[in-house]
Amino acid sequence: MATNASTSSPLRIAIAGLGTVGVGVIRLLGTNRDLIAARAGRAIEVVAVSARERHKDRGVETGSYAWEDDMTALGARDDVDVVVELVGGSDGPALALSRAALKGGKGLVTANKAMVAHHGLELAEAAEAAGAPLKFEAAVAGGIPVVKGLREGTSANALTKVYGILNGTCNYILSEMEETGADFAETLSEAQALGYAEADPTFDIEGIDAAHKLAILAAIGFGAKVDFASVATTGIVQVRAADIAQADALGFVIRLIAEADVQDEDGTPKLLQRVRPCLVAKGHPLSSVDGPTNAVVAEGNFSGRLLFQGAGAGDGPTASAVVADLIDIARSEVGAPFSMPVDQLQALGPAQPGHRTERTYLRFTVKDRPGVLAEITAAMRDADVSIESLIQQGREHGGGEVLVAMVTHEGPEANVTEALALLEGSESLTGEPLVLPILPA
Ligand SMILES: NC(=O)c1ccc[n+]([C@@H]2O[C@H](COP(=O)([O-])OP(=O)(O)OC[C@H]3O[C@@H](n4cnc5c(N)ncnc54)[C@H](OP(=O)(O)O)[C@@H]3O)[C@@H](O)[C@H]2O)c1
Repeated sequence: MATNASTSSPLRIAIAGLGTVGVGVIRLLGTNRDLIAARAGRAIEVVAVSARERHKDRGVETGSYAWEDDMTALGARDDVDVVVELVGGSDGPALALSRAALKGGKGLVTANKAMVAHHGLELAEAAEAAGAPLKFEAAVAGGIPVVKGLREGTSANALTKVYGILNGTCNYILSEMEETGADFAETLSEAQALGYAEADPTFDIEGIDAAHKLAILAAIGFGAKVDFASVATTGIVQVRAADIAQADALGFVIRLIAEADVQDEDGTPKLLQRVRPCLVAKGHPLSSVDGPTNAVVAEGNFSGRLLFQGAGAGDGPTASAVVADLIDIARSEVGAPFSMPVDQLQALGPAQPGHRTERTYLRFTVKDRPGVLAEITAAMRDADVSIESLIQQGREHGGGEVLVAMVTHEGPEANVTEALALLEGSESLTGEPLVLPILPA
C-alpha cells in the first residue's frame, strides 16, 4: 500500500456503496470499534463514502465522512489506504473503481462475487503489480470464513473436492417446499415477500450466483485460474413439489449443490465445476442445512472432511467478513488473493463429466396410457442404465398425466444422457424429464 502504512496510524478506508452491506460495515466498525482496534493493532477509520443518493436516510450517521458523487474518485484520494467496494455488478462502476483503486496502489476489499468471478484474475494481477492487498471474504457465503478457511486453514492440503450450498435463496425455497408441500412458484413469491429473494430472482434461482461463488472457491482450492465460464449451471426452477415428496419417501432432501474437483483425463488435470439440484441423503451433513443458511464442505488429503456453515448473507454476517478482511490488512497479514501468485495458478481446462459415475434420480411426466413405462425402461436398458427403484404416481394434475420417478444404480453419466436422447421427441412424454444426481455420502 502506498500511503499511511505505519501500523500505529489508523487504517483509512473509503466505502463505495451504502446499501445493506455498506451500512452494516459502518455499524460494525462503530459498535466494535475498540475490539477491532485491539485486534487490528490500530484503528480502522472511514474517511470517505459514495453511493447514488447523497441525502438518503440510511439509518447511520455518514455526515462526517467526505462524499464523492463519482465513486471512482475514491480510488484517487490521497487520504485513503483501502477502498471497500460494496456496490455490486460484475462490470460498470464497481469494476472501474476497483481497477482505479489497485492501480493507485490502494488495497481493495470487495463483497462482489460477480466481479471477482468475471475479473478476479485481472484484479489479482493488478494487486500484485501494485503490491496492494486484494481481499474478498464476503464474496463467498457471506459471514462464513470459507475463503480464509481454504486459503489458510487447508493450505497444506491437496484438496480432493469442494462442494456445498452457496445460495441462501434457493436453499430457503427448497427447504420451504419440503416443509409446506407447496410448489416452486408459490414458494418463490412467498420468499420475495419475506425478503429472502430479490424482485428479480434470476441470478439466484438459475444457479448463477452459486456459480460465481463456486468459481472463486475452485480457484482458491485447486490453485486454478478463475474460470466462471466453464461452470455447468442448472437452477431449481424445474423442481416440483412432487419431486421433493418423492425424494423424501426415498430418504433424501433436494438441495442446490455447487461442486468442484480436479481429476486426470488422459493424463491431464481437468477442473469440474457444476451447480445443480441434487438429492442429498438424510444424514449427510448438508441435508440438515435449512433456510437461507450456506455450507461448504472441503475434503483435504490430510485434513479430511471439513464443514463450514453459517449465514450466507445479511448485513451483519457480510459486514463481519468485510471487516475481517480490513483487520487482516491493518495487521499487514495479506497473501495472494487466490492463495498463490497469479503466475502459479494453473489454467485447468474444463472436465468432461460423461465418464464419471453417479446414482441418479430421474422424473418423467408421461401420458397415462399403456406401454409408456415399457418405453422408458427400454430406453434405460438400451443405454445400459440400471434401475434401482421405480415409482409410478397417480394422475398428478388430473389431466391424464402421470409421474414416473426412478433411481438408478451407480453408472456412467453418459449413459443417462444417452437414455434421455433415446426418449427425446417421444409422444409419451408430456414435459422435459428432470435429472437429479444423488450426492455421494
Ligand atoms: N446483501 C447481502 O447479504 C450480500 C451478501 C454477500 C455479498 N453481497 C454483495 O455485496 C455487494 C453490495 O450488496 P448490497 O446488498 O449491500 O447492495 P444494495 O443494498 O443494493 O446497495 C448497493 C449500494 O450501491 C450504491 N450504488 C449502486 N449503483 C451505484 C452507482 N452507479 N454509483 C454509486 N453508487 C451506486 C447504492 O446507492 P444508493 O443507496 O444511493 O441507491 C447502494 O448504496 C454486492 O456485490 C453483493 O453481491 C451482498
